[in-house]
Amino acid sequence: MIIDGKSIANEILESSKIKIKSFKVLPCLAAVVVGDYEASAIYVRNKARVCQQVGIEFLKYKFPSNIQQKKIIDLIKKLNSDKNITAILVQLPLPRHIDKRTIIESISPLKDVDAFTSENFSKAVLKNSNFWPCTPSGIIHLIKYTGIKIESSNCIVIGRSEIVGKPLALALLNLDASVTICHSKTINLTQRCIGADILISAVGNPKLVTENMVKPKAVVIDVGINYLDGKLCGDVDFEKVSKIASYITPVPGGVGPMTIAFLIKNILTLYENNLRTNES
Ligand code: GUN
Repeated sequence: MIIDGKSIANEILESSKIKIKSFKVLPCLAAVVVGDYEASAIYVRNKARVCQQVGIEFLKYKFPSNIQQKKIIDLIKKLNSDKNITAILVQLPLPRHIDKRTIIESISPLKDVDAFTSENFSKAVLKNSNFWPCTPSGIIHLIKYTGIKIESSNCIVIGRSEIVGKPLALALLNLDASVTICHSKTINLTQRCIGADILISAVGNPKLVTENMVKPKAVVIDVGINYLDGKLCGDVDFEKVSKIASYITPVPGGVGPMTIAFLIKNILTLYENNLRTNES
């Protein structure tokens, strides 16, 4: 079965839209973009479109790739103290001369919509809060949607990025799965993958996951975004793997829309948390 991420994401967006209609003041997302990464431009455009669709204000702050780090931090400080801003997102990747960690840690945890700050990330992992980075949240939602039991399952996460692989592996672990993380230095990837009940690939390598790596009836989640012969595709050889998997996500239309749906959900969580803080 093909998991229709777009329609599952739309359910979340519809309920968010209704919730936002009851707010007296509209939430506002500030997106900070540095440089001219083609993929980032597409992601940010999609985020802006969905914010508009559900009634969230969207402000974009764009810097050239040779900007000084201090200028970005100065902007973030201003956004941190601006009462009109609910949430701040710094689109990754950043140019090499910028220290990503320093930038992320300058975002107030009360506005850190990606849950990338060490405070929010450790709360997610250690306190099992419901506020996680957007893509792992979206993936867990899709896995639960298939009805497969996560507890005691064997999960393989291919990729160890701070945005997807690492937090996703920890989220699955918190749900009592047995998790193996594989990456570019892993030896004999096929052998590790073959026993997985749930296989997630978040690498960015077209056709990395082939049918001989997948256990029959496994759930396969494809987080990859690649272009092959001018066509958008994921990390999984969809045509062949879809014949043996029980559930599989397509690219596009699988994980991508879920990331944005959970971005919206996280904005609403920050909005409601901040209302509570201001009232008390
Ligand atoms: N770049 C790719 N995915 C993401 C994401 O979820 N958040 C941010 N901030 N940057 C990204």
